[in-house]
Amino acid sequence: MDTKQYLHLLDELDDLDQTEALLDKSKRRNKYPARNPRMPDDATRDFVHKQDDSSRNFKFTYQTARFEEWWLLESLGAFYEHRWVSDVLSRVKAGKEASVYLCTSGTGVHDRLLAAKVYRPRQLRNLKNDALYRMGRTDLDEDGKRIVDYGMLKALHRRTDYGEELRHQSWIVYEFQTLKTLRGAGADVPEPYAVEHNAILMGYIGDKNSSALTLNTVELESAEAKPLFQRVIHNIELMLKHHCVHGDLSAYNILYWNGDIALIDFPQVVSPDVHPMAWEIFLRDVKRVCQYFRPQGVQADSQKLARDLWISHGYRISKDVQAR
Ligand SMILES: Nc1ncnc2c1ncn2[C@@H]1O[C@H](COP(=O)(O)OP(=O)(O)OP(=O)(O)O)[C@@H](O)[C@H]1O
Ligand SMILES: [Mg+2]
Repeated sequence: MDTKQYLHLLDELDDLDQTEALLDKSKRRNKYPARNPRMPDDATRDFVHKQDDSSRNFKFTYQTARFEEWWLLESLGAFYEHRWVSDVLSRVKAGKEASVYLCTSGTGVHDRLLAAKVYRPRQLRNLKNDALYRMGRTDLDEDGKRIVDYGMLKALHRRTDYGEELRHQSWIVYEFQTLKTLRGAGADVPEPYAVEHNAILMGYIGDKNSSALTLNTVELESAEAKPLFQRVIHNIELMLKHHCVHGDLSAYNILYWNGDIALIDFPQVVSPDVHPMAWEIFLRDVKRVCQYFRPQGVQADSQKLARDLWISHGYRISKDVQAR
C-alpha cells in the first residue's frame, strides 16, 4: 500500500463522527454502493491479515465505515475469539495515536463494559515524538519480555519494516505493562485485561450513555479540588515509587467520573533510573497538573513540589530547569 492509499484510509478514519455512527444501514449502503463491506479492496487487503474463521462471526452494534470495520476485526478479533469482548458499542474518542471503543465483555471478563484502545496502523500514527521517550528504553516483545533475539535486535537497529513493527508492538506493550504494574500498586488507572499486537483491552470509565470526561473539561466544586489534586499527586508518587514517570501527564490524560479520577495513556512512560531527561519530563508533568488545578483554587509551587518528590524518592537533579 503506498502513502497515498494510507492517507486515504486515514481520511476515512478521521471522517467518522458521531453523526455518521448514527446512520442507518441503508444510508450506509448508499454511501458505499458497490462494495461488500466484508470484502476489502486491494489497498485494505495489504493491511489486513487473513481473518480467523471464528472472528468472522464478530459483528458490531457500532456502525463502522468500510476501512474501520476491517481495522477493528483485525485489531479486536483475537479478543473476541478469547471471549474477552462480545460487541463493540461505540467509538468513545479518536486520539492522535489511537481510537478508544466502548465494548461489552465476553464471558472471560467480569467487568460488563470495557474500553478497547486500538492503535492506528503504524504508518498512520502521529507518535508523541517517540524518539525522546525511547531513550534508554529496552524494547519489549509481545509477552512483555525484553527483546534479546539477535535477528529482532538487528531489524530494530536497521529500522526495517519488521523492526518498525517490533517497535510499534513494544510501544503498546509498554502501555499495557505500565497499567498492570500501577494497577497492582493500587494506582487510579483502568484495569488492564489483555493486549494484542494493535490493541489494549481495559476497564471502561463511564457508563453506557457517557464516558468519563477528561479533567480539562471539568470545573470542579471548590470542596473537591484539593482532595483530587492530592489524589493526583499521590498517583504521581506511586509511579515514582514504581520507577516510572508518565511523560504526558496533564488534565487531558486524567479522566473524571463520579468524583473520582483515573490516569490514562501510558505508552510514553520513561524510567527515572535510566532516562537522561527524566527529571525534566517529570517536572513538566507536575507543572501541567498544577496548571489545571490553580484556577480551581489549589495553589501549589510546582517546582518545589516536583523537586521534593523527586529527591525524596532518591533521585538526583543534575541541573535545575524550568519546564514549560
Ligand atoms: N479506560 C477508558 N475509559 C473511558 N474512556 C477512555 C478510556 N481510555 C481512554 N478513554 C478516552 O479515549 C481518549 C483517548 O485515549 P488516550 O489518551 O489513551 O489515547 P491517545 O490516542 O493517546 O489520545 P490523545 O492523542 O487524545 O492523547 C481519552 O481522552 C478518553 O476520552
Ligand atoms: Mg491521551
